[in-house]
Amino acid sequence: MTSEAENNKTKQQSIPKADMPKASVEALIKHSPIASVISNPRLTDNPIVASNDAFCELTGYDRDFIIGRNCRFLSGPATEPWLTEEIRRGVRERKPVLVEILNYKKDGTPFQNAVLVAPLFDDDGELEFFLGSQVEIDSDGPSLAKARRMRATEIVKDLSKRQREVLKYIAKGLLNKQIAHELDLSERTIKMHRAILMKRLEAPSAADMVRLAVEAGM
Ligand SMILES: Cc1cc2nc3c(=O)[nH]c(=O)nc-3n(C[C@H](O)[C@H](O)[C@H](O)COP(=O)(O)O)c2cc1C
Repeated sequence: MTSEAENNKTKQQSIPKADMPKASVEALIKHSPIASVISNPRLTDNPIVASNDAFCELTGYDRDFIIGRNCRFLSGPATEPWLTEEIRRGVRERKPVLVEILNYKKDGTPFQNAVLVAPLFDDDGELEFFLGSQVEIDSDGPSLAKARRMRATEIVKDLSKRQREVLKYIAKGLLNKQIAHELDLSERTIKMHRAILMKRLEAPSAADMVRLAVEAGM
């Protein structure tokens, strides 16, 4: 089956405005150079409710196709079922997962995708969205994913204990208010830590920061 044919298995739904992410959540991915999507698990079949330009460029799909669909349209005939199960488990258990899985672009070209799927919780600690971020890796050459993990680990090692604590909660999908509560600090302090972390990690967006933290094994 071609990946276009597979796509027919994935029904598109129109997303009511109230179920779209707030501008602040969309901003998580907007300026990321890494292909990223946000899905809404409160809706049937956990459809994508936001995607960035890099995602369209990587996959070849346009936004009109993407929004309202579950991300399974990237999988195809040779996608490893045990890796798909790994993603499903992360979604079920609300834990970040990072897997290197075979996916397909719109034109049917297969590619090795180092995909991160991570939960995002709201101010009350309730699961609100999932962040997905996709990096194409060269399956023959030295693993880009491995290089990314090594770089991430090195950067994280140099952070202060407090910065690492904050980053750990960011990677778990907690927002500033909740992190403040967990660490018994003010929200302002957390915001400050977040800004410093973005600079130190050279992360252009919060999505990149989450990805880096997970790559570092936090
Ligand atoms: C935010 C998010 C991003 C995802 N990104 C990918 C992806 O890039 N590649 C992939 O194969 N599956 C991805 N998935 C998993 C698929 O959406 C889907 O759950 C998986 O293919 C299993 O399909 P099934 O429900 O038909 O078994 C993602 C899931 C979520 C929630």
